[in-house]
Amino acid sequence: MISSLVLFIILTFHSVAAVPPYGQCGGQGYAGSTQCDPGYVCVKLNDWYSQCQPGGNTPTPVPTTSTPVTTPTVTPTTTSSTPTGTAGPPAPSIPAGTLTRLTNFGTNPSNVGIFVYKPTSVKVNPGLLLALHGCGGTAQQYFSGSGFRQLADQRGFMIIYGSAANDMNCWDVTGANSLTHDGGGDSRALASAVRYALSNWGVNPDKVFVTGTSSGAMMTNVMAGVYPDLIKGGAVFAGVAMGCLSRGNAPVFPADPCAAGQVSRTAQQWGDRVRQAYPGYTGPYPKMQLWHGTSDPVLNYTNLNEEVKQWTNIHAYSQTATTTSSGVPRQNWSKSVYGSGLVEGYTGQGSGHGLPESGTEASAIDFFGL
Ligand SMILES: *[C@@H]1O[C@H](CO)[C@@H](O)[C@H](O)[C@H]1NC(C)=O
Ligand SMILES: *[C@@H]1O[C@H](CO)[C@@H](O)[C@H](O)[C@H]1NC(C)=O
Repeated sequence: MISSLVLFIILTFHSVAAVPPYGQCGGQGYAGSTQCDPGYVCVKLNDWYSQCQPGGNTPTPVPTTSTPVTTPTVTPTTTSSTPTGTAGPPAPSIPAGTLTRLTNFGTNPSNVGIFVYKPTSVKVNPGLLLALHGCGGTAQQYFSGSGFRQLADQRGFMIIYGSAANDMNCWDVTGANSLTHDGGGDSRALASAVRYALSNWGVNPDKVFVTGTSSGAMMTNVMAGVYPDLIKGGAVFAGVAMGCLSRGNAPVFPADPCAAGQVSRTAQQWGDRVRQAYPGYTGPYPKMQLWHGTSDPVLNYTNLNEEVKQWTNIHAYSQTATTTSSGVPRQNWSKSVYGSGLVEGYTGQGSGHGLPESGTEASAIDFFGL
């Protein structure tokens, strides 16, 4: 009780002004707040990232305090957990309306923190969104710093927020384990959480989606490519194609060639990289929505085209858009639809790295049909 109260107060405080613990507070191209929560100072890690750390200098990954899963506030109308896909009380063990840490959800080889949000309006057989922060972020930071939670409140789906625990809280998008189906690493941990949700909360297996920003956007492509059996769609906010980054998961200097826009491959090569992750898989692949700003100073805009090549190849589409509309979903953005619509690309003229821009989250949720 006390710890959830403390967590609530901290989250309330975050949404007002300062950067939360381990959040980004500076770096090239960064335009947000440079002021950390009390007890934290802004520490420069490299030219691209400064991070709020306790008192001084030791980079400690995810906060170690855990919020115990408390008993539900609403009494379920029927008993016990429900098997995959059947109707029933959604996640009776998860309290509604608060971010709750989930422990013992299965194989977690890289110590990923898993936090779940069940809105008070949760539907029976709810959809599930996996939401992934950028480098230096946490589940708590992405919970309070993006608009997905409000959409869950409006539409009744559940959200799992992950917290990466290694590489300056960047997701593992380069390791062979993480890039292989059930091979281990961060992707395995996130897959465990999704499988747990499917087995125990009555989540609709046809409505499991993933989204994320920056490193979380790269991880969105990874989850879609490595676990196409679990993930039905992805929304990638300022990422790179799966298998593009090569010099580790955290920002480096000089910039990774992929981040700098120097990696170009054929659609066939990008598609093969995805297919190699899960040899023998013959089922469908997720629908994908890809967002990038033309003035992104961290991950060069050319990466959008590489992602389009990757996913149009997977869906056997032409790389030429079937329709393009400008001013969608807002001024300075344009939307391109590929093939029969399972791939969408969004270009933000003059937009930087700070995606999703306010209000654009709804376009992802609409695309998913959540
Ligand atoms: C982005 O990449 C393209 C293609 O490699 C290059 O021409 C351009 O200069 C890069 N932009 C920046 C800001 O580095
Ligand atoms: C759109 O871009 C123009 C210049 O290209 C800029 O003046 C304007 O502020 C931008 N609008 C938005 C909503 O970002």
